[in-house]
This record gives sequence, structure tokens and C-alpha cells, in this order.
Amino acid sequence: MDVKQIVSQMTLEEKAVMCSGADFWHTEKNDRLGIPASMVSDGPHGLRKQPNESNGDHLGLNDAIEAVCFPAACATASSFDRELLRDMGVTLGKECQAEGVSVLLGPAVNIKRSPLCGRNFEYLSEDPYLAGELAASYVNGVQSQNVGTSIKHFAANNQENERMSVSAEVDERTLREIYFPAFETAVKKAQPWTVMCSYNRLNGTYASEHKWLLTDVLRNDWGFEGYVMSDWGAVRDRVKGIIAGMDLEMPGSGGANDRAIIQAVQEGSLKEETLDLAVERILNIVYRYAENRQNEEFSREKDHQKAAEIARQCIVLLKNEAQVLPLAQDEKIALIGGFAENPRYQGGGSSHINSHAVPCAVQLKDQYGNMTYAKGFTTDGDQYEEALQKEALEVAGQSDKIVVFAGLPDVFESESYDRDHMCLPNCQNQLIEKLTKLGKPVIVVLHNGSPVEMPWVDNVQGIVEAYLGGEAVAEAVMDILYGEANPSGRLAETFPRRLEDNPSYLNFPGMQKQVNYAEGIFVGYRYYDARKMDVLFPFGYGLSYTEFS
Ligand code: BGC
Repeated sequence: MDVKQIVSQMTLEEKAVMCSGADFWHTEKNDRLGIPASMVSDGPHGLRKQPNESNGDHLGLNDAIEAVCFPAACATASSFDRELLRDMGVTLGKECQAEGVSVLLGPAVNIKRSPLCGRNFEYLSEDPYLAGELAASYVNGVQSQNVGTSIKHFAANNQENERMSVSAEVDERTLREIYFPAFETAVKKAQPWTVMCSYNRLNGTYASEHKWLLTDVLRNDWGFEGYVMSDWGAVRDRVKGIIAGMDLEMPGSGGANDRAIIQAVQEGSLKEETLDLAVERILNIVYRYAENRQNEEFSREKDHQKAAEIARQCIVLLKNEAQVLPLAQDEKIALIGGFAENPRYQGGGSSHINSHAVPCAVQLKDQYGNMTYAKGFTTDGDQYEEALQKEALEVAGQSDKIVVFAGLPDVFESESYDRDHMCLPNCQNQLIEKLTKLGKPVIVVLHNGSPVEMPWVDNVQGIVEAYLGGEAVAEAVMDILYGEANPSGRLAETFPRRLEDNPSYLNFPGMQKQVNYAEGIFVGYRYYDARKMDVLFPFGYGLSYTEFS
């Protein structure tokens, strides 16, 4: 399609309209010129396609089609495996083709500056090289299926607190060495069809109006060729945005910003060529999808198996004293903890998938070995329940080994807000301590999107970090526990001993809508290494069942 030719036939009004969404998830169509609409959907670890246009939301609240929830980025990053990310991308790309989705809103690649960021579960790493390599592979995978990606949230969106307005104050070296490379690598190696700008301000200017960010760096320095879309509701001054290089406003402004664009062109404060360029970039992508449709079928069963396969590669074995794992089939195992019945496998917010099937360890236990289950605690908060603890201690007392499925409740970490501590609920820590006093080996399996403090670390024999491992996490965990799979994940982030050790501690989340990245380039292991500090588990750590000599 000759997009320049189409743009040359558009009226000023038609061009202005094209620069924002028609609704929550679609770009505008134009019947006069035969321009089709296109659909975008979240992302990143599954398809959150909302079929009902009047009911769209960016908070993960309303209906979406049933889909497969793959492991979240906190887990997939632990694979350190480009091929795995590519493969997951290919699968998601095919699902998008089957469902008519033109752009999948991911990957999310912001650097984990603080373990408290509520959205860390969606992000890859504290390390820019790892994040960039994995992001590029994911983008290549999805886009190999003629479906676009939207790498997000550009840039310096490293906290949820005041995310709509906070200004991240970051010097240029730190941006270029820490906060940009994940985006830069993906652009240079995989050319994502779109980039999503973030809500926050960067050094005082909204990302959606930041010309240096969106044009000088993204396009001129790195060679980005696609279009920039806003995060949902990130637009303040639309005209400034167009001039800065922010092409598509999502989800739209009910026409107000179309009028602002038209007026600016008429008054001469916005050049019509600048508007033409934005429209051209949007239409290039609309047609790239429309002209390359593939006939795919979305097999939820098959993709569930893929999710299990991926999850098995992501689990990190953190401790295995005296080879307490793998479990043997004939050992009497006490299976404790509500997460064995109700695994936490994804995070809250816009990435929330209406999952196809979520088997749990309790359902699977008889296929694997000799396990007796007691809940011990519920998964929804910090409620201490005497009767549950008592039952758990009784069951544990009759076992050879104790496996506790612990983790963070949904309300502890989510998009929209940050954590204010790094602790597991007290009721869980307490029960784990009591179980360690029974004189039997205790193994803790963790379901969490970001690091937790482990006051019992020296008293348990095994620790399995399952992260938020997607809808098939229970199958993957059971395979690891019983040695059907060899743990091979490695931490993509440091687990500090205490929150106070983290380099951002004194400057997170900032105050008066300003957050000073005073630690500079010393993010994650760069800081702990420089300070020769003791950590709970370092970046890159992870055991396996294999012995090397
Ligand atoms: C999130 C994005 C998401 C968008 C659409 C926003 O609130 O920050 O990551 O893609 O909503 O749901």
C-alpha cells in the first residue's frame, strides 16, 4: 500500500482523527479511503483481548476472552534464554493472528530500580543487558508472525507511586547506561512496530511530550521506524506531543484533541507535514498487519502445554541443603500452604489474563507421590488462623519432609501501587518457623513477583523460587520438586537481605512528585558489588540437581 499517497488524499480533519484511538482498543478506520481499523491488546504474557467495546478498561477489571497465561517477565527473565523468549513470542503472535489483534502491548522492560515497584513482576531485570537481549528476542518472536509489539513504558517508569505525574530526575549517563539500553537493544535488534511512552515525567517533561526522548534518542540515535503510542491516558498537551514525536493517543480524547490538532495547524503552531508524518507512521503499521494476515488457530490446550514447558525453564532453586530435593515418590510429604490449592501465577492490573486452566498442586499431588495436604494459611492476606496452623502442624508431624507453598497475596503487589515492605505475610513466616522446629526437612516454594525477605532462610533446607509462573506453574513446580525436570533458572535480580540495603532506599518513591535517581548507575548488583555487600541471593544465582566436578 502506498501510504504516502493515501495521506496526501486525507483532509486535515481526517488526519487529526487518525491520531487517536476510536475506542479503548482500536485505531480509527476511514471508510471514504478504505482505511481499516486495527486492534491492539495487552500483553505482555498472554492475550487480554476485550471483545466488548463498551466495556474496555486498562486495569484488568472487565471481561476478556479466555486465553493462556504464560509466566510473567519476572519468571521468564530467570531463564536467561533468548530462544525461550522468542518461542513464547511466536506462540503469542500466532494467538494474536487467530484473534485479529494487530499489536500486542508488550514487552514491558523497565529496570527494577527498587524491589518495591508494584509492577516489577511485569518487568524483566535490574540488568539492562539481560533485559535488552530478552526483550529483543520476544519482539522478534511475536513480529515473526506479522503482529506488532509495543515495547513499554518509555522511559524511567520505575515505580507506580504517582506514576501519572512524578518526575524521574535522572542524569544522561544513567539513562543511557541503565534505563535506555533495554529499549535501545530491542529497537536495534528487533525494530518493534510500536513504542509505548510512559505516564511519568522525565527530568520535568512528560514522556508523551518529550522531544529529546521520542525523536532525538529513539528515532535519530537508535533508528526507530514504527509509531509511538501513549500509555492509556498519558497525554497532557496533544499538540506538543505530536511535535515531540508521539503519534497515536490511546485510548482517545472524545474528539477534544482532534480539534486541538486542527486548530494548531490552522493557526500555524503545528506544521501540517509534522501531522502527516504521524499519520504515515500509524498507517504503515495498520497496513503491515492488514496485508499480512495469517490463518491461525488458537489452541488453548496446546498453548497451555507451552506455558508449562516455559515455566519449567524459569524456576530458580535457591537452596538445596543435603540434597533435600528432589523428593522421592515413596517419601511421606506434608504439603502445606494455601498456594498449593490456589497458586499465585500472575499479577494484577492491565496484564491480567482470563486464564484458560489453572491446575493446582493439590489436584496434581497423587500423580507425583505420597502427599497429604493441609492449608495452614489462606492466600488472600495476613490473617492468622489458629485452626489452620494447628492442622498443618499435625499433618507435618506425621511426614518425612514438609513442603510449604508460600507467597505474596494479590493485594501485596500490583500495577497502580508499590509495596511498602519486602515481607511475606506474618502468618506465613510464623508457620514456616514453627514447622522448622519439628526437626524435619522443610522446603519452601515461593509464589511472588519480586524479592521477599526470608527470616527463616537458615532454618529451612530447600527454597524453590517459582515467581509468577503462569497458569501451568503448579505442573512445573511439581516436576521440579520430584526431579522430572532439572531446575535451571537463575535470578535476574538481586535479593537483598533487607529492604534498607537497596541502593534506591533513600530516594524511593520520592516526594512532591519528584524522584531523584541519586544512586546513578549503581542499580542492583552494580551497587552491591561496588559496596562488597552481603546479599541474600545475588543476581545470576541458581542451583540445579546436577553435580559438577
Ligand atoms: C498500562 C499499560 C497497558 C495499558 C492498556 C496502562 O494503564 O500502564 O501497560 O498496556 O494500560 O491496558
